[in-house]
Amino acid sequence: MLSVVNTVRDLRAALLAWREAGDTVGFVPTMGALHRGHIALVEQARKATKRVVASIFVNPLQFGPQEDLAKYPRQLEADRKMLADAGCDLLFTPTPEEMYPNGAVTKIDPGPLTGMLEGAFRPGHFTGVATVVVKLLLQVMPDAAFFGEKDYQQLLVIRRIVQDLNIPVHIVGVPTVRDTDGLALSSRNAYLSPEDRQRAGALPRVMQETIAHILEGADIEKTLKAGQEKLRQAGFSSVDYLELADATGLSPLRAMNTPARLLAAARMGSTRLIDNMAVDRP
Ligand code: PAF
Repeated sequence: MLSVVNTVRDLRAALLAWREAGDTVGFVPTMGALHRGHIALVEQARKATKRVVASIFVNPLQFGPQEDLAKYPRQLEADRKMLADAGCDLLFTPTPEEMYPNGAVTKIDPGPLTGMLEGAFRPGHFTGVATVVVKLLLQVMPDAAFFGEKDYQQLLVIRRIVQDLNIPVHIVGVPTVRDTDGLALSSRNAYLSPEDRQRAGALPRVMQETIAHILEGADIEKTLKAGQEKLRQAGFSSVDYLELADATGLSPLRAMNTPARLLAAARMGSTRLIDNMAVDRP
């Protein structure tokens, strides 16, 4: 049975009973508009811990002034049902006032990882993510928290803040769930028109081709440029980046000598899509 709470006080009261019974707690933070990717996080949490808590909070602090905060999809009833069906025990749905009483001034700056890739295109985004994630972790105090690899840089930022701030939680990265054409599931895919949705399948396709060329030993700089061009030809109006980066620190790589990740952000119509893949020999 899924219970729903919307204050920190009620959340903590519900968690106390489980803690007293010795139950372990897994936590899945989300911004709602749930899809199979989120449900995969809940399923992982269910395997790892006795109780599963999810949160739905569209965090204003991580949206830039020109971004989609107002139109971000909100569908609480459908989300509630999906979480109940997936076996989630508790849903926390705080209001912005509950999360940021009196505006809240304390912010978490996660350092250099925020200046590159997504951070360079979305100033302030990772400070907003880090701040809300630290607050949620301190509110829930879970044994483990589950994040999608789809937001790879976010996952690295969260691992880093948890390490730096000695927050006693195990961070689990869960592989990206993809549609049949390879497009990574994302709440923002709902913005795409049917034509754009079809064209968007070029993103994972071009990324896979790019990875194959890099592993064959092609010149990395030229291959990345060619990949960007292919994305534009496939209908993406702009490509913020298609970058090969070191998989732990995200610095750009021009030789394949460490575990690497290919990361991309591109705009289809007015929708900005991101994706990333491991660059490994099969
Ligand atoms: O990945 C998300 O949905 C959000 O960035 C998160 C981690 C829930 C923080 O608002």
